Amino acid sequence: MAMAPPRDHAGRASAVIVHGGAGADPADGRDELRAGVQAAALAGWRALGGGGRALDAVEAAVRVLEDHPRFNAGRGSVLTSAGTVEMDASIMEGDRLACGAVAAVSRVANPITLARRVMDDERHVLLVGDGAHAFARAVGLPDCDPALLITDRQRARLATHVPDSRGTVGAVAIDRHGTIAAATSTGGMVGKRPGRVGDSALIGCGTYADSALGGVSCTGAGEAIIRVVLARRALDHLQGDGEPDAAARAAVDLLVKQGRGEGGLILVDARGRVGYAYSTPLMPVAWMSSGLDAPRVPF
Ligand code: GLY
Repeated sequence: MAMAPPRDHAGRASAVIVHGGAGADPADGRDELRAGVQAAALAGWRALGGGGRALDAVEAAVRVLEDHPRFNAGRGSVLTSAGTVEMDASIMEGDRLACGAVAAVSRVANPITLARRVMDDERHVLLVGDGAHAFARAVGLPDCDPALLITDRQRARLATHVPDSRGTVGAVAIDRHGTIAAATSTGGMVGKRPGRVGDSALIGCGTYADSALGGVSCTGAGEAIIRVVLARRALDHLQGDGEPDAAARAAVDLLVKQGRGEGGLILVDARGRVGYAYSTPLMPVAWMSSGLDAPRVPF
């Protein structure tokens, strides 16, 4: 599945990195997680080919994970205490600091695409609940029966109240023009109170991109991530040519110590270098960048 690395005439590198959520290491199903994040990274990489945009890459990558029932986003989202699906998503493009987000949506198959439409529309940054559904209809996104998003796995999870289900999905990319974009999508926390909104809908918390510095997508305990404004703070650690993995680790340490929660994040810096870190037993990650002939899937 090797593809030629996209490079522009100035030799600028492209890259895309995806995560499938920080959480427990499953007793089984690791192969499924690996295949899922690898497929998402490849979808993002294909979108970057031929001068494609980072924004299209992160949307394409996240859609793959939203469509995959094994990840906590789109189909396969965890359930609220009422047994319903309420999803959050956000997307950002770092040249203009353009961003869009949705929260507590239940009638769209791909919340990240609805967030993208909010961004492209430019009037607002965040739409929630029925207002977001009305906007989806107005821009022609198909209505989705919420029952189709609910899997037996998540019904069982709610029934047994498995506490550690912090999976969320995300992607960060840089294109050959040097534009950085980031996207995050989630069903939230299992058994959450209906109406609860987490970090994944909040720019600066779950998602941030500034093409001068880098882009970030977070996963983990949403309330803790919000407390420390994690995505934006992670970029502080890239100032002065900080190493991406060290920046990610410093940000996760901040989440654990000051935020009082567990989680992880992925990032891409302005030079196209990728980094990631997490404090949970597992965070499925895959990336593809100029110079690689196949995605790296390090777990
Ligand atoms: N990080 C996902 C959430 O807490 O909703």
